Amino acid sequence: MTTATTNVSVGLEPRLLGQTVVVIGGSAGIGLETGRLARSEGAEVVLTGRNPERLEQAARELSARSSAAFDADDAAGVKRFFDELPAPIDHVLIAAYTRRSYGPMLQRLPAEVGQGIGRRVTQVLEIARNAAPKMRPGGTLLLTGGSERKLSREAGITPAAFAVLPPFTAALALELAPVRVNLIQAGFVDTALATSYFADAEAVEARREELRATLPIGRVVGPADVAALAVHLMINTAVTGATYDIDGGQRLIA
Ligand SMILES: NC(=O)c1ccc[n+]([C@@H]2O[C@H](COP(=O)([O-])OP(=O)(O)OC[C@H]3O[C@@H](n4cnc5c(N)ncnc54)[C@H](OP(=O)(O)O)[C@@H]3O)[C@@H](O)[C@H]2O)c1
Repeated sequence: MTTATTNVSVGLEPRLLGQTVVVIGGSAGIGLETGRLARSEGAEVVLTGRNPERLEQAARELSARSSAAFDADDAAGVKRFFDELPAPIDHVLIAAYTRRSYGPMLQRLPAEVGQGIGRRVTQVLEIARNAAPKMRPGGTLLLTGGSERKLSREAGITPAAFAVLPPFTAALALELAPVRVNLIQAGFVDTALATSYFADAEAVEARREELRATLPIGRVVGPADVAALAVHLMINTAVTGATYDIDGGQRLIA
């Protein structure tokens, strides 16, 4: 890891050689694809997730350096994991899911709404607090959020919970410097998480069809697309405090 100018020369050298990438939520979806791409760029990867069987399978598939099963929302589990993780590490992607609180806000307890807005922030802070002392200068903490801003009774606090993340990311970048902090905001990404919101396989396929027909890019965004952005943000040491939308232009259309 170096804090020198990003090397953009066209070469065949793997661009994460000698670096360690930790993926919190790395046994499926965006995290797994980022781990895979980081491996192909020469990185050592460490994967985490809750389900030990799925995690073990992913770790085997990627020849991960190690893996650890714990809930990213459990502060004690996060601390234990980083305490036991050999230093140094270079990059940490947080792709663990924080369940969203859908539904009208007035029908919920105020504390529940507050937690819904703050849960991703507190999860990231616990990870940052424990990971940062082991991270090399120039590495990045990468957050994931959603680009959804459409307001509706059903969406409730979801747009608000995502909207806090860009200024939160920027402020954390100031606190963690010279470690960098960046945010990836996704639209519909074709993973198990995204498809879980639909009633059945037919409804998922109908949504994919709609996206192909309406998105400016004319296709559905997949986890490998997000992985490409995540790995770029690991490599490009000039980027910090930044938010990147990756949604195929979804936020641009009505
Ligand atoms: N897919 C989308 O359309 C979309 C859109 C906007 C934002 N995002 C964000 O992108 C991130 C990744 O989403 P994805 O679609 O890749 O999800 P996914 O396919 O469900 O994969 C999530 C991964 O994280 C692990 N995980 C989930 N919750 C965890 C927790 N509490 N602690 C530890 N590990 C956990 C899962 O394994 P276990 O279940 O075994 O723990 C799995 O390995 C999330 O932050 C999500 O909110 C996704």
